Amino acid sequence: MMETATELVSLDGRCVLVSGASSGIGKAMAHRFADAGARLVLVDVDEEGLSCTVDELPESGGTAHWCVDLGREDQVHRLWDELASAGPDGLPDAVVNNAGIYPERKLEELDQDMLDRTFRVNLESVFWMCQRFIMARGDSGGVIVNVSTIEATIPFKHHMAHYGASKAGVEAMTRGIAHEYGRKGFRANTLVPGGIRTEGTERWAKDALKRLELGIVKEGYDFMKRVPMGRMGTPDEVARVALFLVSDLSAYVTGATVAVDGGFLVG
Ligand SMILES: NC(=O)c1ccc[n+]([C@@H]2O[C@H](COP(=O)([O-])OP(=O)(O)OC[C@H]3O[C@@H](n4cnc5c(N)ncnc54)[C@H](O)[C@@H]3O)[C@@H](O)[C@H]2O)c1
Repeated sequence: MMETATELVSLDGRCVLVSGASSGIGKAMAHRFADAGARLVLVDVDEEGLSCTVDELPESGGTAHWCVDLGREDQVHRLWDELASAGPDGLPDAVVNNAGIYPERKLEELDQDMLDRTFRVNLESVFWMCQRFIMARGDSGGVIVNVSTIEATIPFKHHMAHYGASKAGVEAMTRGIAHEYGRKGFRANTLVPGGIRTEGTERWAKDALKRLELGIVKEGYDFMKRVPMGRMGTPDEVARVALFLVSDLSAYVTGATVAVDGGFLVG
């Protein structure tokens, strides 16, 4: 018998790991997935923010949270060792690699530290997270959603070449995983937010204004002029599409790059 729409969107009985769950898009995802009935494994480097997210969630779902610096490979492996040691019930059915940093830096001023940090957090950690997830799930398969950015396709903000490059890597990696692991029961898709008002983007804009970088005002104006929907998006509008990609609503979707950008990329 055909499943109902409610059954297809439900995450009842499933466990979803969300990284970057202390703030912004990741926090909104935690709320949406809990709303759909998932048990959660929330990961972030910001322990205080993580506790706030957990406090806001309904108790019924069951939430574990882990303070991890994803820029440290050893910490990523420790996380998975501990998840695996709890037995099959401790392992997530789906992983959403959302945590990311978007530090602004002129190409002429970019140094090895900044490049390393950006690549380690935004790209390398996603490799380790996907590797450990696929190894842990084995024949059971699973769902991966990796978060990129519009900047990987159309550079818009200045001084973000390192950021765009790290996320372009995420998109290529995700397609590679979809290609290689589809027959083993894994789906992997990239979610591409653009122009979402979050704690991170607000802080970013305030810092630029404090430094009297007025170009940010012009960039904001130019963004609004280009984006067909004429407004910024909300974290929950991204979380709703993440729910689609994690749930069985998207059962035959893999290797896709799905933009949630108010139409920016076609603008
Ligand atoms: N907001 C946007 O407009 C936008 C646009 C395109 C892409 N994105 C991407 O969406 C994702 C979420 O962005 P956001 O705006 O919600 O950001 P945010 O700064 O509000 O949240 C990011 C979260 O990631 C966590 N994090 C950062 N470094 C970490 C590390 N080393 N280890 C563990 N956790 C870490 C932070 O503590 C924070 O909780 C990022 O990958 C970002 O690149 C956002």
